[in-house]
Amino acid sequence: MAYIEIRDLIKVYQAKETYYKVPALRGIELEIEQGEFISIIGPSGSGKTTLLLILSGMAEPTAGYVRIGDVRLDQLSEETRNLYRRTKVGTLWQIPNRNLIWEINILQNVEIPLRLMGLQREVRIKRARELLAEVGLENRVKHRPSQLSGGEVQRAGLACALAHEPELLLADEPTGELDSKTSGELLKYFQSLNETHGITAIMVTHDFDVAKATDRLIQIVNGRISGYSLTGDLKTIRDMHEVYLDRFGSIQLPRHIVDNMKVQRRVNIEHQDGKVILTQE
Ligand SMILES: Nc1ncnc2c1ncn2[C@@H]1O[C@H](COP(=O)(O)OP(=O)(O)OP(=O)(O)O)[C@@H](O)[C@H]1O
Ligand SMILES: [Mg+2]
Repeated sequence: MAYIEIRDLIKVYQAKETYYKVPALRGIELEIEQGEFISIIGPSGSGKTTLLLILSGMAEPTAGYVRIGDVRLDQLSEETRNLYRRTKVGTLWQIPNRNLIWEINILQNVEIPLRLMGLQREVRIKRARELLAEVGLENRVKHRPSQLSGGEVQRAGLACALAHEPELLLADEPTGELDSKTSGELLKYFQSLNETHGITAIMVTHDFDVAKATDRLIQIVNGRISGYSLTGDLKTIRDMHEVYLDRFGSIQLPRHIVDNMKVQRRVNIEHQDGKVILTQE
């Protein structure tokens, strides 16, 4: 059984002022194995952050089935959702002040989740130092976030995200504000933590080079999965020839193919010699 199983996940946001409903996820189907390092890529507004918010327990699905380990996220009460959020999942967001408190040093930042776990002060400090050493910040523990570089700030955020030993690490464009060298460094920490802690990690990124360093790449377009691929020999996003065929028989064609089609509402389809052929007159 897969560690994460998502079936027909739908999320509709409703803006209170206008009553206008925005469909953000339109039937996501996805399975992720324990210990996999997945990247998610897709155009702006396609629903990537929404998916992470649901998996982190910070947003409720509108409909569908979402299971992580033995937790059914679509059936949680507010109280158990808070417990799930505090114990099972670690999050790292693109904007650093969502990960860290700016007024205190990074050792104190990492201590906060450890305090919530009820650990004694000496144990907390020891553990916080170990976590910061794991992301290469052992000589910076008394620095506040404003005294660190962008890459170091994100590494401190990563130490915080891992403090309570979550099973699942969710990161929303953690390298978005970093140059390519610094992104590469952060990514190495991600990979080694994924390997040493056996954590399942899901990372949203706009950067194809970052995505290529993960095990599997998933593309989301308009709230649905339009392609997925093991990253081994991917050279460009257009090499993603696999699309998801869901239980109902639906697929979403990759965007570059749709963009090149003349008419978008009708195509002919045949099944011939093991091939499914779409043609346009
Ligand atoms: N709180 C909200 N209320 C209403 N609509 C929202 C809300 N949050 C997101 N949306 C809408 O849902 C859709 C998906 O948004 P989401 O933030 O998940 O996209 P994204 O793929 O993360 O985009 P980006 O790459 O720009 O971060 C968008 O159309 C967005 O405008
Ligand atoms: Mg986003």
